[in-house]
Amino acid sequence: MIKFIALEDVLPVRNEVLRDGKLTPQECIFPSDQLDSIFHLGYYVGDELATIASFHQNGYAEFEGVGYQLRGMATIQKYRGQGLGNQLLNFAIVYLRGQKVNYLWCNARKVALQFYHNTGFEIISDEFDVPNIGPHHVMYVKIQ
Ligand SMILES: CC(C)(COP(=O)(O)OP(=O)(O)OC[C@H]1O[C@@H](n2cnc3c(N)ncnc32)[C@H](O)[C@@H]1OP(=O)(O)O)[C@@H](O)C(=O)NCCC(=O)NCCS
Repeated sequence: MIKFIALEDVLPVRNEVLRDGKLTPQECIFPSDQLDSIFHLGYYVGDELATIASFHQNGYAEFEGVGYQLRGMATIQKYRGQGLGNQLLNFAIVYLRGQKVNYLWCNARKVALQFYHNTGFEIISDEFDVPNIGPHHVMYVKIQ
């Protein structure tokens, strides 16, 4: 089941999946988590939080209309490859369309390019490196 969830629920999964469990939950807070427009989605399998993602308003470069940025997309290891991430992103896109948002973008890890591509995202930047994390591309999906 996909739900809107609180930041404190997101942080342990961010740490486990995106920071290899090396940080404290507090250290996994992004500056964007403080914005009024932020929301977090979680996919629960029973009582267990399996997949998370966070979204905030942030335009990218020259794109027209209202843009949102996706951050912190993560599925815990044992639930990967079952389509949960895909369903969560599709839920977000439908919700954002209802909010009159025009496009969604993210800094996608190179290993996750195909995952984003499956939901309709396309690459819009050259490859760039994020220190300690690795190669990325900016990816974009038009919502309306
Ligand atoms: C990237 C990530 C979020 C994807 O989450 P996920 O829940 O595994 O995503 P999905 O299951 O929807 O899709 C993943 C793969 O499973 C496959 N898949 C989708 N539905 C499936 C199903 N029902 N059965 C089996 N496989 C399925 C997809 O084809 C996809 O493969 P591909 O990316 O090679 O095309 C997850 O792998 C993850 O947390 N990775 C580590 C952190 C990370 O890199 N995050 C992205 C930061 S930019």
